[in-house]
Amino acid sequence: MKLLGKLAWITGASSGIGQASARLLAEEGADLVISARRDDRLQQLADEIRTLGRTVTVATVDVSDRQRMQRVGELITSLGGVDILINNAGTMPISPIINGRVDEWEQMIDTNIKGVLYAINAVYPGMAERKQGHIVNISSVAARLTYPSAGVYAGTKHAVRAISDTLRKEAIRYGVRVTDIQPGAVDTELPDSIVHEKIRAAVKENMYGEGMPNLQPEDIANAILYALTQPDHVDVSELLIRPLVQEN
Ligand SMILES: NC(=O)c1ccc[n+]([C@@H]2O[C@H](COP(=O)([O-])OP(=O)(O)OC[C@H]3O[C@@H](n4cnc5c(N)ncnc54)[C@H](OP(=O)(O)O)[C@@H]3O)[C@@H](O)[C@H]2O)c1
Repeated sequence: MKLLGKLAWITGASSGIGQASARLLAEEGADLVISARRDDRLQQLADEIRTLGRTVTVATVDVSDRQRMQRVGELITSLGGVDILINNAGTMPISPIINGRVDEWEQMIDTNIKGVLYAINAVYPGMAERKQGHIVNISSVAARLTYPSAGVYAGTKHAVRAISDTLRKEAIRYGVRVTDIQPGAVDTELPDSIVHEKIRAAVKENMYGEGMPNLQPEDIANAILYALTQPDHVDVSELLIRPLVQEN
């Protein structure tokens, strides 16, 4: 067990990459704080993980709610602080900019950028004080390039990558490690967050089409575990992981 005695907070743990990461980290001995908005999913996952002998705290929260995220930070401080943050919650209601779906732009900015920052702010000062910790931000291949309809989503993911690398540089002096994970297409519920019907159908058919061997959430969980389990002097700063068949 490579993470025995560690406490990890995973945001967006109710499905997909976050859920697979929670399972893998628990199998490797980590105790967990898991969060998302769907409490029923979190409770189910917590029950499953407790059977592995791990302790699990459920913190049901919308990451874009600054005050409630501060309270999760206080809860985590009362637990003695976390060793690991998997900053994973995200949403992708993409559409062409000409459609002017401003509410959906704001939802992506609030969740994918502000939510990531609120989670960092909730745990990073404690990590810096204890002079140890590891923050893993989940950005995307869309942190490096963009696609028509994905302008705002890619903008949020470029921001996560920029924030990650800045934090990495600043955190060196505190002994805190930072990793930015950039998945390509992974089979998860993410396309369900696309409200624009035609785009949702196109993404499901082309990016997540039948017969296309996409990544599985477990593939990304394995990449996260790799980054977390390197020797203390190693910082895995970025990992870009695509399905073999994904060109861009
Ligand atoms: N799937 C891909 O192809 C892919 C590729 C690159 C990057 N990513 C990134 O990977 C991360 C995980 O996504 P996924 O693919 O695993 O999709 P997913 O299955 O839809 O998971 C998204 C998670 O984020 C949570 N979430 C969404 N909005 C939230 C909010 N406002 N507050 C709290 N939690 C929220 C969801 O839980 P609730 O709905 O219960 O709140 C869910 O647990 C995201 O950041 C995504 O951008 C995914």
